[in-house]
Amino acid sequence: MGAPVIAIDGPSGSGKGTLASLVARRLGWHLLDSGALYRLLAFAATGRGIDLDDAPALTVLAANLDVRFEGELRIVLDGEDVGASIRNEQVGAGASRVAVLATVREALLGRQRAFREAPGLVADGRDMGTVVFPTAPLKIYLTASAEERARRRYMQLKDKVEGVSLASLLDEIRARDERDTQRAVAPLKPASDAIQLDSTELSIEQVLERILSEAAARGLVG
Ligand code: DC
Repeated sequence: MGAPVIAIDGPSGSGKGTLASLVARRLGWHLLDSGALYRLLAFAATGRGIDLDDAPALTVLAANLDVRFEGELRIVLDGEDVGASIRNEQVGAGASRVAVLATVREALLGRQRAFREAPGLVADGRDMGTVVFPTAPLKIYLTASAEERARRRYMQLKDKVEGVSLASLLDEIRARDERDTQRAVAPLKPASDAIQLDSTELSIEQVLERILSEAAARGLVG
């Protein structure tokens, strides 16, 4: 079976990335930000002039990505730190396009499963509980209303990026939700044994405590 996994899935802006990192820190476990892999692939493809619909070329690229995760923020692609460059909405939209391709997802599976190491792994994404780690002893499906997720994203970006608008963020979030939930392969949906949490009215701390208490209830906290 290997080391225990806490899978945290949900739509973009639900807070799963922040929570996964907090849970990993509190437990002293490894962290997998699986969305970063799809973002890296879209980013690397764009840099090489590969079309984001070109499944064969993207699959080869996915299998050969030269990437190292160093701590939580540094992501080194071909020797260059791209941790910050992959975080914008454009790369996110590209990631959601390459993520519809079955052979691309297949090529990234082994890379994701390799993160499962002692003492444990907290993995966040869209299909952590359904496809990548179906045997995870704790699966969380985190949601929040699209309006609240757009508002959170706006608060994050308004001081960093010029000309961001709440309305366009809401449109982008809705478009990405549509693509992520409607795709044929590994669509965004709760695993049948996932605990569903709606964070619209909850603080990060409240969600964190809930996840940690579910982990404790399963004997995952040493
Ligand atoms: O979580 P994120 O916003 O960084 O993810 C970017 C895109 O990658 C998202 O729109 C869908 C895709 N993705 C996926 O298909 N499966 C995952 N496990 C993680 C992300």
